[in-house]
Amino acid sequence: MTELIRRVLTGIKPTGSPHLGNYVGAIKPAIDASLQTGVRSYYFLADLHALIGGTDPGKIQRATLEIAASWLALGLDPNRVAFYRQSDIFEIAELNWLLSCVAAKGLLNRAHAYKAAVDHNEAAGHDPDLGVTAGLYTYPVLMSADILMFNAHAVPVGRDQVQHIEIARDIAQRFNHVYGADYFTLPEALVDEHCAVLPGLDGRKMSKSYDNTIGLFLPPNQMRAAIAQIVTNSKLPGEPKAKDESALFAIYQAFATETESTALADAMADGLAWGEVKSRLGDLVESKIAPARERYQALLANPSEVEAILVAGAAKVRVESMPFMARLRDAVGLRSLNSLAPKLVKVEAKKTAKLTTFKDSEGFRFKLVAADQKTVLLESIAFDDARGCGQMMAALKAGQGVFRELEFGVECEIDGAVVANGGGDSIADVHDGLNDIA
Ligand code: TRP
Repeated sequence: MTELIRRVLTGIKPTGSPHLGNYVGAIKPAIDASLQTGVRSYYFLADLHALIGGTDPGKIQRATLEIAASWLALGLDPNRVAFYRQSDIFEIAELNWLLSCVAAKGLLNRAHAYKAAVDHNEAAGHDPDLGVTAGLYTYPVLMSADILMFNAHAVPVGRDQVQHIEIARDIAQRFNHVYGADYFTLPEALVDEHCAVLPGLDGRKMSKSYDNTIGLFLPPNQMRAAIAQIVTNSKLPGEPKAKDESALFAIYQAFATETESTALADAMADGLAWGEVKSRLGDLVESKIAPARERYQALLANPSEVEAILVAGAAKVRVESMPFMARLRDAVGLRSLNSLAPKLVKVEAKKTAKLTTFKDSEGFRFKLVAADQKTVLLESIAFDDARGCGQMMAALKAGQGVFRELEFGVECEIDGAVVANGGGDSIADVHDGLNDIA
């Protein structure tokens, strides 16, 4: 049944606080997608990955809080999706190693991020691996572990991450091949072609690396001040302005309905002053962000609430990762030695004929039952006491019985008296029985 459900997974690196570009380009589309039905969504904070970018423990912790709070404030529903912190899923770190042992080094040599670092060093005349950690080098393996751990079908990512998904497929295929079963689903990258790329203050793509971002949860006055800095040309009020003459319109459009956007474009064509455009953009962004900002501030003030959500999220997904990891450990040979212990074969005790005594209303009797445990070869007359019965049994065992075959069964005489008879087919059967008794 679960096989029919499409699993969608994506990781969010907790670095810095989110800006408007992150919201429009990644967060909003992802949260919208999480509301779809028939999909099982996994969203996680890739804090292990964040360690590659810096060694300030306080920063990692703070960014984890801020990014988790942002997603929750913007509408990610932890009851609907699995929302967890990568480092809480110990199995991911373990799987990372198993995958490292099948991943070709050459595959990692070709990864863009590593190659870019090497190219950069070479251009500067440095050692090619200057400042390159093994973590940066094996980043794609850890990412593969994130994805393959939950057998995700689809991974929504930006274009810059597509190669990583291809590497994950490659490693999954290799593992499946080496260990001879379809342990892993081959994931596919889901790139939203229509996904808006938001321009920043200077008109280039809004990005931390260009230092042209507008923080998503800036207080209202700072948000307006940031918007006021968005570059425009020097057209005066009254002069017609086109949509692409400033980043203002594109940002407005990202938050507005189509009707609102058309209305602004018309007003600009009619000569709306740049200051007016900025003020309308400020109003719009404020109206969209204000409720989330309030939730965001409340979560930041209550980190334990965020912690509890993440811990619960981890428990939810470890129900899957723990048994799967156990299976993978077995697949590669990390096994208990107990399975190598020589098998103790249980030998069925051989069944023999039995000579037993019993008591009924007439007295003590003995009987000789064949090895099949059913056929009564002989059953004695009743003796008054157990001792007499025992003496006859001893005499029988000692070979003092004289047997006579009747029309049906056999009769046994000891000391001239008939003491027993039975349903055996022949005297030979009775002798077999007597020879067989334990
Ligand atoms: N590398 C991704 C990024 O920088 C974050 C990430 C980590 C991720 N693990 C992932 C994305 C698994 C998708 C799937 O944005």
